[in-house]
Amino acid sequence: MAEPRPRVWVSQPLFDDIVGRLAAHFDVRSTAEVTEHPPEAIAVALRDCAGALVTLNERIGAPEIAGATQLRAIANVGVGYNNLDIAALTQAGIVATNTPDVLTETTADFGFALLMATARRITEAERWLRDGQWQQWSFGTLLGADLHGSTLGIVGMGRIGQGIARRARGFDMRVLYHNRSRLPETVERACGAVYAGFDDLLAQADHVLLVLPYSPQVHHLVDAAALSKMKPTATLVNIARGGLVDEVALSDALANGRLAAAGLDVYEDEPAVRPELLALRNVVLTPHIASASLATRRAMVSLAVDNLIAALGAGPDAGHPPTPVNPDVLSAAAKAITAKRQGA
Ligand code: GLV
Repeated sequence: MAEPRPRVWVSQPLFDDIVGRLAAHFDVRSTAEVTEHPPEAIAVALRDCAGALVTLNERIGAPEIAGATQLRAIANVGVGYNNLDIAALTQAGIVATNTPDVLTETTADFGFALLMATARRITEAERWLRDGQWQQWSFGTLLGADLHGSTLGIVGMGRIGQGIARRARGFDMRVLYHNRSRLPETVERACGAVYAGFDDLLAQADHVLLVLPYSPQVHHLVDAAALSKMKPTATLVNIARGGLVDEVALSDALANGRLAAAGLDVYEDEPAVRPELLALRNVVLTPHIASASLATRRAMVSLAVDNLIAALGAGPDAGHPPTPVNPDVLSAAAKAITAKRQGA
């Protein structure tokens, strides 16, 4: 009798034509509607699965995988993977993968767009116009801050941060960056960016853009103390993760003129947005869409599908998913697959 095919869970509706590739290898259990899966439902969904294709909506750690004895791979559709407890997955021998590279340029475009919208008050201006407040052209209406000739401080200088730095050169901006480790000089030169300590960057930048990975170590990196080091004329843009910013302190600073404006694509408790932020006129709010161009979202799903197929030992790259997060687990899994293929 033929062996039953491994089962995989797809946690959200993605692109059917792309996710459909999984059906050539696995028994696919899909999710028809956008769903908020409580932790217990995730544990139940994973229980009899070999793999899962998930998004940042699904938080998966030790309790969710406790009963999932067949689980071998989780493919995250997203570059950030703070929704996964990598230590718990690694300990359980489960491969995790993410989707870097394919979203770099799209996300950098969006970071720059959000920066421009924030500094030049574009959404505020549109709300004002739509509200019928434009009765007369006046010289002093909605004065914003320039990008050209200003100093941009990028916190987190990975692929996306570097993409933003390259864009900033076209705007004749001076670019400072802060990163866990300093980049090689050749890379600094290629993106025209100068390394600065975090406090120094906060003090010097006219615009501060956060694009670093979230971890508990950087929770509330931008808190009241950090905000107090920024220029009162400065803008803050966050396209990384909400937990990097203390939203209470930020709302307070924006309301009290200690910071000129903020652009936020991510929030501490998504999809909830604090009423204090919603009430402010000097903050641009978007619903976590930095990578959301059609082509890029499709490319992310495609990469995640490739990852899942390969991580579960199927397809042409069996045992070698393109973008693993915990490659140590992978090498053990890949060895097992190679041995099985060789009939050992
Ligand atoms: C989105 O936030 C991602 O991490 O890809």
